[in-house]
Amino acid sequence: MRTLLLLTVSLSVLLGALAQQPHPCKAPPYLEGKLFVLFPEGHTTLFEQFAYDAVEERIRVVASIKHDSQEMIEDRLLFFRERFYYEIHYHNKSCVKTPFDAQFNPIQIPHDAHHQAQFVLGSLSAPAEGLLVNSWVGYIPETKANYSMTFTEFGCIPITILTTDEKKDHFFSSFFDLVVGLENPEVFIPPSFCTSAKVVERKDGKVADFFSALR
Ligand SMILES: *[C@@H]1O[C@H](CO)[C@@H](O)[C@H](O)[C@H]1NC(C)=O
Ligand SMILES: *[C@@H]1O[C@H](CO)[C@@H](O)[C@H](O)[C@H]1NC(C)=O
Repeated sequence: MRTLLLLTVSLSVLLGALAQQPHPCKAPPYLEGKLFVLFPEGHTTLFEQFAYDAVEERIRVVASIKHDSQEMIEDRLLFFRERFYYEIHYHNKSCVKTPFDAQFNPIQIPHDAHHQAQFVLGSLSAPAEGLLVNSWVGYIPETKANYSMTFTEFGCIPITILTTDEKKDHFFSSFFDLVVGLENPEVFIPPSFCTSAKVVERKDGKVADFFSALR
């Protein structure tokens, strides 16, 4: 009887330990939220509101980009599968359509990421004071960059992503106010004045920067 009890206890301890080992995960396919990005040297910051649809591979972003003392607002609707984006200007009802060639990168922990630590943001002293998160590190050969990312243990919600590229430039992204699901799927329907959008090719096509946390 005693042996059986001991066996059961040690088995449940073992299973508990197995269950606790975090695995790389993928964020929910539909997300809305805000993102703050600090570019290297701190001269440029980007503050954006986004809607993310990993099923149809599309992103809507309204971004405020501050470079030193200059500020500009960009409203973009990106269709990764169709490989173009709209740049929308409501104030003069104009819309520019630009082809681009960036791959859609879902918000996720890469499969080969190395689990660094599990920790609590805030405190566990009282309910709702803390958040259990995991941090992961790894290397992306395509961009030759190291990353360190923090996602929640429950729900696989992104919190922060820090990437360091070859030039040792740091890009810091912080997500907040995330909502799982799409409250207003119409954000992916371009305004009617976009049907007559003129097509402009861009050579510098740094479209991925608009969601630089996900590169
Ligand atoms: C509309 O405004 C944007 C940004 O202010 C400007 O770049 C664009 O050329 C304008 N389009 C037209 C058709 O006036
Ligand atoms: C990535 O991390 C490795 C190990 O810490 C380091 O040797 C390498 O220089 C880093 N590369 C970049 C681009 O930061």
